Amino acid sequence: MLAAESRVPQHVAIVMDGNGRWANRRMMPRVVGHKFGVDALVNTIHACSERGVEYLTVFAFSSENWNRPDDEVSGLMGLVMTAVAKYLARMAEDGVRIRIIGDRSRVADKVRDAWDHAEQLTANNRKITVSVAFNYGGRWDILQACRKAIADGVAPQDLDETRLSRYMSLSYAPDPDLFIRTGGELRISNFLLWQSAYTEFHFTDCLWPDFDARALDLAIEDYARRDRRFGQVKVDLSGPVESGTAVGR
Ligand code: FPP
Repeated sequence: MLAAESRVPQHVAIVMDGNGRWANRRMMPRVVGHKFGVDALVNTIHACSERGVEYLTVFAFSSENWNRPDDEVSGLMGLVMTAVAKYLARMAEDGVRIRIIGDRSRVADKVRDAWDHAEQLTANNRKITVSVAFNYGGRWDILQACRKAIADGVAPQDLDETRLSRYMSLSYAPDPDLFIRTGGELRISNFLLWQSAYTEFHFTDCLWPDFDARALDLAIEDYARRDRRFGQVKVDLSGPVESGTAVGR
């Protein structure tokens, strides 16, 4: 069954929040929370893939995360290398394509090399595309797209939404259908600002390391109940077209 028919979102985006609190509650350093967060991510990739989600985009490191304590930043960078070494082969076998979105210029060579290796090894996979936002910010994304369009010589009158979308980091993916944020905060935190114009949001108090297949199913069930109108009129199929109801937002 196609994703659209079964109301499984084609593209899920996740802000994986709550790792620090999860660790604090256990009297452990914050980086331990991130370590368990990697395990939750690996399980979520598997669960999404099993359910027919074709694109998963996760916020792993924001442009603002550089301001965290040095040991946490270096711990997160170290986790990238450990995670790639530990999980990449299995991901590649499972048909996972890995893409990295974000500003690579400030990232250390060894981290960039690990991401490049992950992208190259999985480039031909199509079961699920996992985009890891790393040193990413939604405003940065819009800005870099504008800069590339200008550098390409696109005239202002020729620049429209479709054309600019081609320069955005996720140009290869449809816009997210479902945006999940764990950790209890109710904000978007500069993630996928352009791409989330008509995305459905699901917020949960669950801390990211506790997120599992059941929590994913709850989010998908919540999504499946939503009435998506994309700013248009809802047409009542049982009557004439004029019986369409409220203009959606
Ligand atoms: C937010 O929780 C989480 C992050 C800033 C990092 C998320 C990263 C991972 C789950 C690991 C990803 C790693 C790879 C290799 C892709 P927080 O620290 O802000 O938690 P808090 O709100 O409880 O303090």
